[in-house]
Amino acid sequence: MSQVLDAMFEKLTEGGEHVIDQGDDGDNFYVIDRGTYDIYVKCDGVGRCVGTYDNRGSFGELALMYNTPRAATIIATSPGAVWGLDRLTFRRIIVKNNAKKRRMYENFIESLPFLKSLEVSERLKVVDVIGTKVYNDGEQIIAQGDMADCFFIVESGEVRITMKRKSKQDAEENGAVEIARCSRGQYFGELALVTNKPRAASAFALGTVKCLVMDVQAFERLLGPCMEIMKRNIANYEEQLVALFGTNMDIADPSA
Ligand code: CMP
Ligand code: CMP
Repeated sequence: MSQVLDAMFEKLTEGGEHVIDQGDDGDNFYVIDRGTYDIYVKCDGVGRCVGTYDNRGSFGELALMYNTPRAATIIATSPGAVWGLDRLTFRRIIVKNNAKKRRMYENFIESLPFLKSLEVSERLKVVDVIGTKVYNDGEQIIAQGDMADCFFIVESGEVRITMKRKSKQDAEENGAVEIARCSRGQYFGELALVTNKPRAASAFALGTVKCLVMDVQAFERLLGPCMEIMKRNIANYEEQLVALFGTNMDIADPSA
């Protein structure tokens, strides 16, 4: 960690500035300090905005990790600042760490049924992008109504999912209801990323919980082939909510 911090340098960015251009060789990896950035990916020569970073996140790791040309163009949309890490240091430290991560998580990721539509090489890329986070007993992992920027897989422990009823009066009178539990190998936090809506429910740690965490950009880039399985599961959520609350709570309805 200290070697990474020592090697990082600050770079101020202006609105409209291209921090990275698709097709270039990779020089640095960037961590956002502040500012907003659009992500453009060219499809048949036409650039399409596929996402944004809003004052957090990091980018520019792919070209350095896989020795490939830049896979997207990153354009600042406000004045901001990023912290850069040069290619050599990134490869020496991060890529070495990724090899360790692959050894640790390869078997676990291979065993997850919801990732079975991915090729082996794609599953390895999932291992490369995941981070880990530990939560203490009772700690809130997700808050219903918040904006979402990541996806979780339970590595150990148990997660309690609760939901408040829709009407304010109902929510105050009845509080939150437990609707599900997730344990090792199960995922949560995908719904808001798939529907582009706020978090539909809250999640709390039951005992100590360790989760693998993936940011929304990696989720969209890597888990496209798993969408069918996830969408089927969302239909199950709706059925379960109808049984519990008499309504599907509009969890997947884009007009709600
Ligand atoms: P890199 O290819 O080095 O440079 C462009 C960066 O954009 C890439 O690394 C990722 O960090 C980031 N990025 C975010 N979303 C995407 C996406 N959908 N496809 C490719 N790169 C993306
Ligand atoms: P998300 O809405 O992003 O955050 C809360 C998560 O709770 C949600 O994604 C699902 O992963 C999870 N969840 C589990 N059961 C349900 C359910 N019946 N309805 C909605 N969300 C559920």
